[in-house]
Amino acid sequence: MEYVNLHNGVVMPKLGFGVYQIKDLEECERVVFDAIQIGYRLFDTAQRYHNEEAVGNAILKSKIPREEFFITTKVWVDSSGEELAYASVLESMKKLKTDYLDLVLIHQPFGDYYGSYRAIEKLYQEGKVKAIGVSNFYPDRLVDLITFHKIIPMVNQVETHPFYQQEELKPYLKQYHIQHESWGPFAEGKNDIFENPLLKQIGEKYQKSVAQVILKFFLQQNIVVIPKTVHLSRMKENFDVFDFSLSEEDMKQIKSMDQKKGLFYSLQDPSLLDRFLN
Ligand SMILES: NC(=O)c1ccc[n+]([C@@H]2O[C@H](COP(=O)([O-])OP(=O)(O)OC[C@H]3O[C@@H](n4cnc5c(N)ncnc54)[C@H](OP(=O)(O)O)[C@@H]3O)[C@@H](O)[C@H]2O)c1
Repeated sequence: MEYVNLHNGVVMPKLGFGVYQIKDLEECERVVFDAIQIGYRLFDTAQRYHNEEAVGNAILKSKIPREEFFITTKVWVDSSGEELAYASVLESMKKLKTDYLDLVLIHQPFGDYYGSYRAIEKLYQEGKVKAIGVSNFYPDRLVDLITFHKIIPMVNQVETHPFYQQEELKPYLKQYHIQHESWGPFAEGKNDIFENPLLKQIGEKYQKSVAQVILKFFLQQNIVVIPKTVHLSRMKENFDVFDFSLSEEDMKQIKSMDQKKGLFYSLQDPSLLDRFLN
């Protein structure tokens, strides 16, 4: 495993496992347990995913000491505001069966996210949370939040895949020493990504799959990745990325796939909140 150091000194694995859209709790518990056996230690969940309990159960069942894990969860929009957000993190901790969290993120820049951020700052100062950050914060919201709070977020988790590489955001992450974390590294399979001729051709050179090439592309840029899969063989495949390197030319070619636009939603779309809340 490779690691990154967050700006407060916390060490974070560079490769983790996401559990978005694994709604069936039994399945989620099984999948996380299997991922632990393979070697994954970073798990990315959220209040919104409704599966924190399953993640907590699998971790307990593994009998591996809690300190070996890096658990991330997020505060959803309907828990925004200082009091609700604070309570929601304590609730997440209960569900995850842990007395501390490694990373808590404000999931979306909607509602009273100022209040939510103050709540996680407080949890951080109380030692209940080892690192705090944001998700889906683009330069305008990010700089605004930083300007009016004491603690600079340690992580920003944003949509990042070969079709959307976040080049506009990167200078801001660099300026404030904020760790870039990719969500949706495979674009959830959109644009037929697993059949992409360029990625396939690069993979063939190293006897690696398209998924492995994508993960390596981000790992080599020190971007944390948290791919999701419910299949054991893919879990192994996605973990088997530390024995090869992409050349500068490969990196350049994959960089040229950037369409500089998200594939999922626009934060500027006024109907988005309705989708988020209902
Ligand atoms: N902060 C946010 O707003 C936000 C938003 C979205 C996601 N996330 C986080 O980021 C994590 C990852 O993103 P994501 O789940 O949206 O999408 P993703 O990881 O880009 O893609 C997951 C899809 O790829 C497939 N897949 C995985 N490994 C594969 C492989 N080796 N070969 C072929 N197909 C493969 C999976 O299928 P199977 O499962 O069928 O194998 C699934 O359909 C989430 O689980 C979540 O933790 C955060």
